[in-house]
Amino acid sequence: MTNLLVTGGAGFIGANFVHYWRRHHPADGVVVLDALTYAGNPANLDGLTGIEFVHGDIRDTALVEKLLADHGIGTIVHFAAESHVDRSIHGPAAFVDTNVIGTLSLLTAARAAWLTGPGHAHRFHHVSTDEVYGTLGPNDPAFSETTPYAPNSPYSASKAASDHLVRAWHHTFGLQVTTSNCSNNYGPYQFPEKLIPLFLINALHGRPLPIYGDGMQVRDWLHVEDHCRGIEACLLKGRVGETYNIGGGAELPNLIVIETLCAAVDAAFAADSGLAARFPDAPAAKGQPTVSLKTFVTDRPGHDRRYAIDETKARAELGYAPARTFEQGFAETLHWYLANEGWWHAVMDGSYRDWVATNYAV
Ligand code: NAD
Ligand code: DAU
Repeated sequence: MTNLLVTGGAGFIGANFVHYWRRHHPADGVVVLDALTYAGNPANLDGLTGIEFVHGDIRDTALVEKLLADHGIGTIVHFAAESHVDRSIHGPAAFVDTNVIGTLSLLTAARAAWLTGPGHAHRFHHVSTDEVYGTLGPNDPAFSETTPYAPNSPYSASKAASDHLVRAWHHTFGLQVTTSNCSNNYGPYQFPEKLIPLFLINALHGRPLPIYGDGMQVRDWLHVEDHCRGIEACLLKGRVGETYNIGGGAELPNLIVIETLCAAVDAAFAADSGLAARFPDAPAAKGQPTVSLKTFVTDRPGHDRRYAIDETKARAELGYAPARTFEQGFAETLHWYLANEGWWHAVMDGSYRDWVATNYAV
């Protein structure tokens, strides 16, 4: 039994992790620290017991230090970040503030709380991304933990910087750290700025599906619950000071993901006549294929072509393997978004509409 501090626990992956941890480790106390930026939503934690929510900023070092002491925290799982690549192109500074300075602040607090005096048993788990490794050609080997860092976007550069800080706090100060670098997550509670929820919701409203460039960029799709299992494995079995790549085993070009999504929406409407009444603007409500909404738009600047994860190390050391195929995970995700219309309506507030106007302006 231990107490965890989960930063960014009101965001997409953090909230899924808190749900997962409460289901699988009910004896552990969980404190969620989240600044509730546009991407944070306390409703993502609805229905949970045994957690304490703290509305605060990871850059507030004194607050973090106090939380660690007051709650007897032995484990930090660090998700809090600015996470959207497109936003990092429009406004890079926030990414350095949160992802770099924020991580520095957490490390400073953890060192003060855990390494001064007699010291305490502890673990600092840092959640990072495969984007730190840069981009791959079609025949390049997948990213392994020894692939040199080559971040290409302000987002990935800020995550790479945070990874280096975590590594340095281990080597220099002896902080007990692990880091995981994972691929593209999808699943419940994902903010509708990322490809899958954005396209699902657009499809239901009959809005264009804006495909960047030729749509042949490749990502490895990881269901968020599989990711949570991977982080759990790092915490329980990971070697201190090590990094682990976590993938979904589903390397797909965007066009295939989009066509899968469109076909699944068509099938859902065919199977449930109530959907046409709920979403009358969807092409599927009028007997037209959802794929007719595909629209090719200007490419993202610096768009990485391909990511792929070699998860040999996580399999061998942690016994990690994704439990779902993309088809299974995507079907569950579509079902969740159709069943939770109230959730995504509530998050699509004014600031979200402003973002859409900025990012997709012609
Ligand atoms: P998200 O944008 O959905 O959530 C981020 C959360 O962090 C929000 O709740 C937000 O309010 C909070 N936050 C932001 N700034 C904060 C601050 N200064 N103090 C406290 N809280 C703050 O992000 P996500 O998709 O859930 O990603 C979580 C982590 O996983 C990030 O570190 C991201 O880099 C990493 N990651 C994400 C993916 C993905 O596909 N989504 C893949 C690889 C790695
Ligand atoms: O690889 C892990 C990363 O995955 C995480 O570190 C990031 O936090 C997360 O946002 C994600 O980054 P991507 O840029 O790959 O995700 P996104 O959902 O923004 O885009 C997925 C692909 O779809 C990418 O090639 C860009 C493309 N795309 C995206 C959007 C939003 C489009 O073609 N059109 C769009 O409107």
